[in-house]
Amino acid sequence: MDLLARAKQLEAEGRSVIHLEVGEPDFATARPIIDAGIQTLRQLKTHYTAATGLPELQQAIAGHYHRKFGLQINPRRIVVTPGASGALQLALSVLTDPGESILLTDPGYPCNRNIAKILGINTIDVPVTEDTQYQLDAVHIQQCWSANTRAAMVSSPSNPTGTIIERSAMTALIEAIANANGHLIVDEIYQGLVYDVEEYTALSLSDDVFVVNSFSKYFGMTGWRLGWMVVPENFINVVDRVAQNIFLAPPTISQYAALAAFETGTEEILQSRVAIFKERRDYMLPVLCEIGFKVSARPQGAFYIYADCSDVSSDSFSWTKKLLEEEGVAVTPGIDFGEFEASTHVRFAYTRSVDELKRAMCRITRFIK
Ligand SMILES: Cc1ncc(COP(=O)(O)O)c(C=O)c1O
Repeated sequence: MDLLARAKQLEAEGRSVIHLEVGEPDFATARPIIDAGIQTLRQLKTHYTAATGLPELQQAIAGHYHRKFGLQINPRRIVVTPGASGALQLALSVLTDPGESILLTDPGYPCNRNIAKILGINTIDVPVTEDTQYQLDAVHIQQCWSANTRAAMVSSPSNPTGTIIERSAMTALIEAIANANGHLIVDEIYQGLVYDVEEYTALSLSDDVFVVNSFSKYFGMTGWRLGWMVVPENFINVVDRVAQNIFLAPPTISQYAALAAFETGTEEILQSRVAIFKERRDYMLPVLCEIGFKVSARPQGAFYIYADCSDVSSDSFSWTKKLLEEEGVAVTPGIDFGEFEASTHVRFAYTRSVDELKRAMCRITRFIK
């Protein structure tokens, strides 16, 4: 946040800044979704919906799982939320009590640690490396689970590493957590933004996982604040009650707009953007390695590259600050995602055009030299 604030200040002073720190697609929301939102307002659909979301949207999301993965999900298990952020808060609220603990990856998505803290939950930050694709595996569960641990959280593809938990590793993870009588929360927010490998969902492996997803990333709707969570049957009622109290309901206009996200015309627009993200990753990954960074686990999804910068600097926070001041390129230092090897890592987000990425790489090369 400090870097972002400084980047904005520099821009206000007339400096050119290339933003590789931003964790959201640079594309505006696809036109059919925007039109559906405008139509919703014109029809004066401005009241609360049910706390767990519009039944039509629950149905549409269930249809999405059927088309994409051949799954039959009971729409009542789908809880529509204010972003994946809302889903993560709900999941932690229903699964844990203050004083209990959860397992997280270090590095990992920073808000999970903070949401847990706000709820009085202790976090066990498990250092993860390229050996496990920067993900939790069954061995971590056996080693780090304690008597008061209730749940483990993973994101696949991951923020900040873009790495994926392979199907067999996910199966083993689910089994290890079931053996510990715990719960697994799988954040699939970057689903759809996957390159090179075939996608699956943790829902196809178990009905007991809590699967979080969102309209923010693949669907390009960050500002609409809409996500969802698929919960096990026996949690439907408790999640509904907690959602009623924390959020009342997810945003109505966004929900009607999101119905258009599953139409064929929209799907074509979104798929063309996936190809663009892949092209950006394929440009940026080799160039970063040529100029002195090391990327030891291939990012196969999301829009992030988590790079080891130890040959360039052993203090990534100062390095990113200086890079911004001297060359006007904003990247995220490892400290944002945890403590483990944070000072020798930075995250690049390829949420800019290839031309802009090229300009950024020229500036970074000059800075390193
Ligand atoms: C892994 C992960 N989970 C959840 C979120 C929250 O997303 P939103 O609340 O916009 O759906 C983000 C946002 O960057 C993320 O990277």
